[in-house]
Amino acid sequence: MKAVIFDLDGVITDTAHYHFLAWQKLAQSQDVHFDEAFNENLKGIDRMGSLELILAGASRSYSDAEKLALADSKNAHYKTLIAEMSPADLLPGAVAALDWCRAQGLKVGLASVSKNAFTVLESLGITDKFDYVVDAATIARGKPDPEIFLRAASELGVDPADCVGVEDAAAGVTAIKAAGMFAIGVGQPATLWQADTVIPGLEQFKNMMETLCKTGASS
Ligand code: BG6
Ligand code: MG
Repeated sequence: MKAVIFDLDGVITDTAHYHFLAWQKLAQSQDVHFDEAFNENLKGIDRMGSLELILAGASRSYSDAEKLALADSKNAHYKTLIAEMSPADLLPGAVAALDWCRAQGLKVGLASVSKNAFTVLESLGITDKFDYVVDAATIARGKPDPEIFLRAASELGVDPADCVGVEDAAAGVTAIKAAGMFAIGVGQPATLWQADTVIPGLEQFKNMMETLCKTGASS
């Protein structure tokens, strides 16, 4: 194992909840039913992909211009929700997990399809804890496609088979496995059944990794 590639939203910070609130408002504005269960399908999915899934439940079709306007309005709302973020918004165990990787000599990457990822990392004060952060704007195919994890591995100079991916979304776990990496799910085993192992949060990351190192993790 030579590198760990983290997702951001829902793994390092609870922005997954802010995405939920912003999509919920947009869905309500279009009279589309929206709840936590439906939101689970949107986790890890990029902005336009998420919008398409929501509008599939609408009673009419939308022009490309309308879709862009709706995506922009969701993003504007999301940005107001994350405007006050600070290091206090780091999830428990996140900094310890990143620092543990660095102390072990592992490369640390970030693979988030969010175009707001750089802003969120800055607000959290953890930008310098990553050796490489994928720019979502340069990714052609979002999760569950493996492109973003393969890009991170390539930029870190590590073979995908020597990488561990860490994800809270089913689509993200699918992407990690399609990239040929070992997948750690963060959340519920029932949702993240494709992961090689699941932990409730990053507070359990160090123990999990130490166990994997002893037993020899393999994707
Ligand atoms: C992912 C989130 O990390 O980023 C999704 O899990 C979100 O919920 C996606 O839609 C895109 O984010 P953004 O900030 O580019 O709209
Ligand atoms: Mg996520």
